[in-house]
Amino acid sequence: MNQENLPHGGSLINRVLSGPALAEARQAARHLPTITVDPWVVSDIDCIAAGAFSPLVGFLNERDYQSVVEQMRLADGTVWTIPVTLAVDEQYRQLRPGERVLLRGEDGVDYAILTVESIYRPDRQKEASLVYRTTDERHPGVKKLYERPPLYLGGSLDVLQRPVPRLFPQYYFTPAETRAIFRERGWKTVVGFQTRNPLHRAHEYMQKTALEIVDGLFLNPLVGETKADDVPADIRMESYLVLLEHYYPQDRVFLGAFPAAMRYAGPREAVFHALVRKNYGCTHFIVGRDHAGVGDFYGTYDAQRIFSEFRREELGIELLFFEHSFYCWRCGSMATSKTCPHGREDHLTLSGTKVRELLRSGQTPPPEFTRPEVARVLVRGLAENRTITS
Ligand code: ADX
Repeated sequence: MNQENLPHGGSLINRVLSGPALAEARQAARHLPTITVDPWVVSDIDCIAAGAFSPLVGFLNERDYQSVVEQMRLADGTVWTIPVTLAVDEQYRQLRPGERVLLRGEDGVDYAILTVESIYRPDRQKEASLVYRTTDERHPGVKKLYERPPLYLGGSLDVLQRPVPRLFPQYYFTPAETRAIFRERGWKTVVGFQTRNPLHRAHEYMQKTALEIVDGLFLNPLVGETKADDVPADIRMESYLVLLEHYYPQDRVFLGAFPAAMRYAGPREAVFHALVRKNYGCTHFIVGRDHAGVGDFYGTYDAQRIFSEFRREELGIELLFFEHSFYCWRCGSMATSKTCPHGREDHLTLSGTKVRELLRSGQTPPPEFTRPEVARVLVRGLAENRTITS
């Protein structure tokens, strides 16, 4: 185990300016070329700012980018599987290394100054096939990649202002804060859990199985951009709170939002998710079936297999792999094929699509699949959401 529990790369990155440096940067920003960036980029800036993406200090320069795409490592050899990049229009191709640009959100907020290291044209087909393992535009990550502007701008960031969370601000923590909280609670071992979905009994089963062997659970739902048919983050947050209130020991679980966008990159994203949770202070990380997958682009356990391509010490976090979990009517409990001798006909399995259909039509899945308190929050939330968006 990683006894020291160090952040990835050795130390937590903090790119947020304060004091005179901030005042100076704000002054300088007034005269810099300005690039308007979308909410996805703002969420990346935020993750870089507070060290969730340590050791990244900015958007990948060309060397690091090529190395991440081809080798799943930064140019210095540190494991890093997802290219975190800033895509910009042709009009910025005149920029030169050393120049600075201001990154402004669509909300008019000046978030950061980027000092340009390199301007380069990525081979997006190559990025798609190596990172997403497909060039099929039906893959939401690939579609997004192809829609982005054609140039990448790499360089370090100096952050003027972190985004202010719109909803549930009390559940946003920096990695420095979560580390301090785990320490205060006396947790020596902490298991991180990534999710972009409402929590069902299968998720609960894995978390509680892990809680049998570690001190605490860090429930860290991703709340950045997701695809349109995923359940919105505000409804999910409400559902997590009600689940924790009714079914979890309060002193052994901690809920904090993960502001990043979902890439749906399956195996590569599983490694990325694990490294980020290490930065938040986790010693363990759960990877179940088809982690960060979408449709049938990845094999059920590809996101577990990829970890064997790295040495344990270079990952620095223990992986807890779980098989597909389900409720078995004959066992009368949650189980996996490792613990249940019965056949499929005895297992309750519902596809994500089926569950969403049920919830959106106002029906609750059976309690063996979803806790009733959670189901009620989801049905109500989705009904209200439909009224707002229609
Ligand atoms: S993800 O895109 O964030 O991975 P999701 O929120 O559904 O999607 O999954 C969270 C974690 O639970 C992932 O590690 C995933 O592999 C795992 N998982 C989800 N459902 C099951 C299941 N029925 N059995 C085993 N693991 C599961």
